[in-house]
Amino acid sequence: MAMCGIIGYVGWRRSAQVLMEGLERLEYRGYDSAGLAWFEGDRVQRVRAVGNLASLRTALHDKRRLSSAALAERRLAGNPTGGATATLERQLGIGHTRWATHGAVTERNAHPHVDARGRVWIVLNGIIENHLELRARLARRGIACDSETDAEVVAQMLGLMYTGDLAQTVAETMHLFQGQYALVAMASEEPDLLVAVRQGAPLTIGIGQGEQFIASSIAAFLPHTREVAVPQDGEIAVLRADEVVLLDAAGEAHPPSVTSAGWDPERIEKDGYETFMLKEIHEQGAAVRATVQSAMAQIQDAARTVLSTQRIAALERVIVVACGTSYHAGLAGKLALERWARVPVEVDVASEFRYRDPILNQNTLVVAITQSGETADTLAAMRLARAHGAPVLVITNAPGSQATRDADGVLFTQAGIEMGVAATKTFVAQVAMLYMVALQVATVRRRLPSEMVGWLAEELQSLGDRIDELIATVDEPVATLARDLAGSQFFLYLGRLTGLPVALEGALKLKEISYVPTDAYAAGEMKHGPIALLSPQTPVICVATEVNVLPKLLANMAEVKARHAQVLAVAAEGFTEVNEYADHVVYVPRTDPLLEVLLAIVPLQLFAYHLARARSLSVDQPRNLAKTVTVE
Ligand code: M6R
Repeated sequence: MAMCGIIGYVGWRRSAQVLMEGLERLEYRGYDSAGLAWFEGDRVQRVRAVGNLASLRTALHDKRRLSSAALAERRLAGNPTGGATATLERQLGIGHTRWATHGAVTERNAHPHVDARGRVWIVLNGIIENHLELRARLARRGIACDSETDAEVVAQMLGLMYTGDLAQTVAETMHLFQGQYALVAMASEEPDLLVAVRQGAPLTIGIGQGEQFIASSIAAFLPHTREVAVPQDGEIAVLRADEVVLLDAAGEAHPPSVTSAGWDPERIEKDGYETFMLKEIHEQGAAVRATVQSAMAQIQDAARTVLSTQRIAALERVIVVACGTSYHAGLAGKLALERWARVPVEVDVASEFRYRDPILNQNTLVVAITQSGETADTLAAMRLARAHGAPVLVITNAPGSQATRDADGVLFTQAGIEMGVAATKTFVAQVAMLYMVALQVATVRRRLPSEMVGWLAEELQSLGDRIDELIATVDEPVATLARDLAGSQFFLYLGRLTGLPVALEGALKLKEISYVPTDAYAAGEMKHGPIALLSPQTPVICVATEVNVLPKLLANMAEVKARHAQVLAVAAEGFTEVNEYADHVVYVPRTDPLLEVLLAIVPLQLFAYHLARARSLSVDQPRNLAKTVTVE
């Protein structure tokens, strides 16, 4: 698993500054070292640093101090410009945040990498699977790599093949690189251009006025331009300050097709919140409102393809594939599709599905859920499904992402960009979209009375406002509870039916950002093993949102209490019996139990958030985690 951020800039602004700021906006993707290379006069300068971007800023500052001293010396020696005037207007460079895969976290392994002759510089995101073979090949040519990374192998290979024409060199050399990656390169001898290519990893071009950007995510350059273009896999992008050209496999040049990114630059700022995660938790009402509002039109659109009446009528099975939080959204979607539409549903983590030789046919609808639209396992699962003739519908938050290109139909959640690594508003938006799909399938298959469909749709429409109100009411008491329990060593989460995805997601949130071990179980399973973990020091969080199984859950809570463990509960309003067994209860508004998933998750997200803050942790960029996992 890995994730890096890459950025390139060519234009008129101070490139080192633009790159540095761009990397800061890519920070959310997770990283453990970072670096920049840029032209200063005729020379390429490079800084790299282990740790956070503050270390890179310091390294940049030191470098600048040294180069101003060198310039002053050259002036004293009678060369007033230091030889740099002719090229002062050149502003070009590349930057990288590295999430280590090949080689330890060291400055030497940090990008950018350069070939042995100092001619070709690159930053790379992804993995080159045959790097050992290429490394051996270079060794036979007498070229030793300076680092342990697969990226340097690419730099060395490009340097070896370099003809003086970087675009041509990349075009002729890229067939040697196996794997999923995106790279941006520049050459010391061609100080006016960047060359980039992607092969299964994200890369987006930002088109400006007399300047161009390229990066792993739009977020990196959104304050400068919203005009974007996404190169196809294998297309070579050549960026000059006044022009962008794409070269196809035949070497034919064509202009990129440019679209406008809908995300507002100000929406990716923190708006006064202390962290992105907190801001995004507060944006969940809006995310649900916007998603529900846009869903019908999108579903009507998909009715021309994957969600046509004929296909829905012929549906034998739905398989949901996803990873992490998106998988938990899929579990809630399964319950809705089965309860409301009576269609059998399987939910599988994409990394298992892709290797388990699944049974698929054209009457199986595969629903892939991925907020980023770039998760490698989910993309592979989608490819596998299509290869077996199953239509694929993707639910994603990312316009232009790979998943949107690989699917037969796309539904966009309307959560806006999510910067916190821990998914929050994208989760509720995914669940809301899945429920809208389930209602459509139920309607077409006539499995729910129309009054019921109408009531559920109305309830869904009002959920955004209820989420807003809930946050306002529970934030403070939940924060107090989280602070009180911040020293606990382990938390067990329990839920039944619709409470289970909530328990699983709540447990994932807490472990991701607070690093406190958690486990989550279907409550009925507790006595089959996890009960052994209980002690007076174990807080157990129970999600009580299903009236049918409430007596069962109360019995489970009694078992927990009998072991003197502390019981915390999230319950639907009116379930007052819960008070008898729980030390603390947070009530959420009562509606349909499926819809309560969107409410019950909120206190658990806030609990995870405040507990991590009480432990002084960086919630937006938790250790070892990446926002988008573009390799297996
Ligand atoms: O972009 P995706 O939805 O495909 O990402 C899937 C998981 O990597 C993601 O949900 C991950 O579990 C998050 N860290 C959850 O907070």
